[in-house]
Amino acid sequence: IGRSICFFETIGSTQKEALALADEGAADGTVVITNEQSAGRGRLGHTWQSSRGTNIAMSLILRPDLPIDRTPQLTLVTAVAAVEVIEEQTGVSCGIKWPNDIIYEGRKLVGILTELQAEATFVKAVVIGIGINVNTDPSALPGDVRRQAASLKAITGKSYDLVAFVQAFLQKFEELYRLFLREGFSAIKPKWEKRAISLGKKIKVRQPGGTTIEGVALGINDEGVLLLEDADKEITRVYSADIEW
Ligand code: BTN
Repeated sequence: IGRSICFFETIGSTQKEALALADEGAADGTVVITNEQSAGRGRLGHTWQSSRGTNIAMSLILRPDLPIDRTPQLTLVTAVAAVEVIEEQTGVSCGIKWPNDIIYEGRKLVGILTELQAEATFVKAVVIGIGINVNTDPSALPGDVRRQAASLKAITGKSYDLVAFVQAFLQKFEELYRLFLREGFSAIKPKWEKRAISLGKKIKVRQPGGTTIEGVALGINDEGVLLLEDADKEITRVYSADIEW
């Protein structure tokens, strides 16, 4: 991973660029990264705000030999990599809100967006976008996200070298990704569970179609799918959603 790196001083979205490059046949492990992203994309149609030179915005192009239904597990692998590298580099311990928001005291430090290019059930490419608020000043972000955003600098008072941070992240991700490909999701699941902050809580699940269901987050199964228990003790599998409590 990272043998081929496409760096842009400024770009609309590394994710959009990576999807286009993947379509053109970019190699497995290609990294698209920028200093300034002006039209960052988030999950479920949200936008992702960042300010110039203070945060990490990158997208990884992967071509794993995996069935389509296992690709959501890669999001959880990425979340574990982000939490572990943040802890190692800064000493800050944060939690994972299912599936992949990295949270510190209720505010978001990292966003992850996984998108897929597939033909029938064959995965052609998975593009994983990662945004990490490293040296960001949350008060410089637009009003609506200001109160929801955290940054490592705001937490510790220190500034971090972004290049070293990216290198550490790519190394950590590669280690966990190889473990995942070799041994399956069961090797990652306990690491994810150790950091999970939503398990056992009563949550509201807003699904992409717009429907909301309520229940207790029991945990994730071996596929990385969230299991939600409703008042009648019935269990629903949640594949993709925004959750709140
Ligand atoms: C989310 O939490 O909704 C996901 C946010 C993902 C943001 C990253 S920043 C790098 C990459 N490029 C984008 O346009 N989005 C992702």
